[in-house]
Amino acid sequence: MAGKKILLIIGGGIAAFKSLDLIRRLRERGHSVTPVLTNAATEFVTPLSVSALAGEKVYQDLFDLNDEAEMGHIELSRAADLVVVAPATADLMAKMAAGLANDLASTLLMATDKRVLIAPSMNVRMWEHAATQRNLKILLEDGILICGPNEGDMACGEFGFGRMAEPLEIVGAVETAVNDGPLKGRHILVTSGPTHEPIDPVRYIANRSSGAQGTSIARALLSLGAQVTFVTGPADKAAPMGVDLVEVQTADQMLEAVNSALPADAAIFAAAVADWRVANAADQKIKKDGNGLPVLEFAENPDILASVCAGKQKPKLVVGFAAETQNVIENATAKRKRKGCDWIVANDVSPSTGIMGGSENDVTLISEDGAENWPRMGKDQVAQRLAEKIAEALG
Ligand code: C5P
Repeated sequence: MAGKKILLIIGGGIAAFKSLDLIRRLRERGHSVTPVLTNAATEFVTPLSVSALAGEKVYQDLFDLNDEAEMGHIELSRAADLVVVAPATADLMAKMAAGLANDLASTLLMATDKRVLIAPSMNVRMWEHAATQRNLKILLEDGILICGPNEGDMACGEFGFGRMAEPLEIVGAVETAVNDGPLKGRHILVTSGPTHEPIDPVRYIANRSSGAQGTSIARALLSLGAQVTFVTGPADKAAPMGVDLVEVQTADQMLEAVNSALPADAAIFAAAVADWRVANAADQKIKKDGNGLPVLEFAENPDILASVCAGKQKPKLVVGFAAETQNVIENATAKRKRKGCDWIVANDVSPSTGIMGGSENDVTLISEDGAENWPRMGKDQVAQRLAEKIAEALG
């Protein structure tokens, strides 16, 4: 993505120190950062350190004659591609919701004609307070974008929601917000990775899916500007930066996560969901106690793809995968009909192909128009081609 201009407003909260790292991460990815500090922010970070990291002048004062002569506050608020507020304190959120403009930061937020992304950060009680939740609702209705807050330990010693999102998560949200690719404004759901079906608290049944193909698809969709909800089982590959990540273990949990992520414009089911779970999974670790071998009973897992296709919230385009070891096209064509999805990405996962867990894929795309064989290529290239086809189909 070409570098974008970010106007970064740093509010006065303890998480301001993380905004120093945010500046570095944004610049590493080619974006430029114009920093603005509130008065309270200067209690936590110094203008000098912010300016040194941003490689730009820091703006602080609404009534600074020199600043106004060089670049007025109205121009400053509009020269950026995106305005980011990190940390967004309870006070800044309240000012934004009320439309106050009594210092440089709040005036810029009122004067801007660009999108605004906030990364809230505050004590858990302050976050849960009715006033903050009311302000949050207003900000969401106003179209303000939100990243975080996360749940975790806080500087004040408490635990809960209110931790500012990590710098890399904010970079991901920034890149989603400024991307104006063909999938901008589209919400796409991707499932990925294997599922783990417990036998007892320490053992489980799994499969060899690494999550590589699903991860590349999510990344390719992001690169075209989509908002991606990424529901993944325990995969080897790290989830791409910028997705709305939902981590699950079992097929049941994946189904629940998928249903709560709907509605979506499209859904790509790249997960290798276990067909069966252990019906008599034990609550305690099964012991080798001399009473013979344990007997596992199985129950069928829900078919997530088929259930979404049969449901009321079926996305406009649903893509399934068919990992086959024989009669790939016949089986996959029948699977498309049986599951009720629009496209099937079929591949041969016989061990001799090296596809399962490998970096390449050899796919045939099956749609109502028939079968389209793609040459063997990297999983990233398959993902890019698929994402482009999805963009075309969604129009
Ligand atoms: O039936 P089979 O597992 O071959 O179907 C593969 C396709 O169905 C994949 O897209 C996979 O993600 C999806 N699937 C699912 N839920 C299951 C089994 C498969 O969503 N329980």
